[in-house]
Amino acid sequence: MSQGLEPTITKLEQWTDKWQNNQIAFHQMSNHPFLVNNLKKLTTTSDEKIRILFPLCGKAVDMAWQSENGQIKIYNGDFFKFSIDLEKPFECVWDRGAYVALFYELRIKYIEHIKKILDKKAKYLMEVFDYDQHLYPGPPFSIPIEEIRQFFGLQFQVEFIESRLFNPFGNLLVKDKHPKMSSSVSKETGIEYWNQSWIKNEIFFHKNENNAYLVKHLNRMIGNKQKSRIFFPLSGKAVDMAWLASLGHEVVGVEFVQMACEQFFSENNIKFTVKDLGDLKLFSSEDGRIKIYNGDFFKFNTKLEKPFECVWDRGAYGALHYDLRAQYAAHIRTLLDRNVHYLLVVFEYDPRTFGGPPHSISQKEIQTFFGDEFKLELIDSQPFESYNKTINPEPGSNNLYLITKNLNLKN
Ligand SMILES: C[S@@+](CC[C@H](N)C(=O)[O-])C[C@H]1O[C@@H](n2cnc3c(N)ncnc32)[C@H](O)[C@@H]1O
Repeated sequence: MSQGLEPTITKLEQWTDKWQNNQIAFHQMSNHPFLVNNLKKLTTTSDEKIRILFPLCGKAVDMAWQSENGQIKIYNGDFFKFSIDLEKPFECVWDRGAYVALFYELRIKYIEHIKKILDKKAKYLMEVFDYDQHLYPGPPFSIPIEEIRQFFGLQFQVEFIESRLFNPFGNLLVKDKHPKMSSSVSKETGIEYWNQSWIKNEIFFHKNENNAYLVKHLNRMIGNKQKSRIFFPLSGKAVDMAWLASLGHEVVGVEFVQMACEQFFSENNIKFTVKDLGDLKLFSSEDGRIKIYNGDFFKFNTKLEKPFECVWDRGAYGALHYDLRAQYAAHIRTLLDRNVHYLLVVFEYDPRTFGGPPHSISQKEIQTFFGDEFKLELIDSQPFESYNKTINPEPGSNNLYLITKNLNLKN
């Protein structure tokens, strides 16, 4: 990271210095327009007197505005020591300049902490900035919505409400007068996106050699079996399917784009037949070892194929955006045998550096989406270069998980 791009604040004590030197450019003398415009959204849950939490409040004038005829309490001290022993859980939170003021690791801790002081019905308004972090190092940091969703987790819904342009921060780094959307806003990864990728031949994910994790850890999935049946959800034209069939295994893929199915068979010189099944078409190799269902994964079910004991998931779960991943996990669970050995390959990296696909996926997220019924084991991990060294030079990791059923649980 070049010197000018170091975050201007990295330690708690630096805030004290800022206040002492009156370097509080973040302080605004008027009420915040987002709060004014959306106050009703924030406070409708409560019939009684409204209590609003202002975490990391500074001397925000909005506190005085909201407390007309009311009461203001400011706890002076470390936010991480503030708990429901001091105040009952909050139904309303106005977070301006708090979350965005913290660097990545602290944001994780902050959300973990604030969740403990929220009421079940809590509504939380948060202002964040989204800009090209090459131009300004923060704080305030540039925050993608995906990150907020990831940190809050599934019990919370994160909704985008309002947006406005802002002037670039500072003037030392202004190369572009208009703030750009951050590179970490993820692309839409619905079916049309994939269709276009195949049509334009932008299939960066396709590799012509077998996946190294699959070769190395095949036995973790199939055991010592000579003949297994292996599921390839969102298969693309993965060459691994041909390799496994050549070893004597059966392979079942599901792929939405017809061109991908056709290319798989023609590029691997495998003769095939096609059958129309209504929602899906079935492409089968003549020897019956490879079947690819062409159509939407969410329409594929156990009426078509009995539950699977072996799953190879590379570029499937990790290729989908957050909401789709939740749906995907719920659907694939219905396709799994109780003895399943499911190998899942995902990337994990600082989501500010790249918006995906492939998306950055934590172990916690996978566990949440698959649920307690499944056991998750990290069995291999390799570093890979940061997508954007200016934002964060730390390498990401390419992780291989083994998912099995947690047979200690009933059902
Ligand atoms: C990132 S690629 C990975 C392909 C393959 N697993 C590989 O490793 O090469 C994701 C594939 O999923 C397919 N896909 C996306 N959404 C799908 C859906 N709902 N149903 C079936 N296939 C889908 C896309 O067309 C694309 O070929």
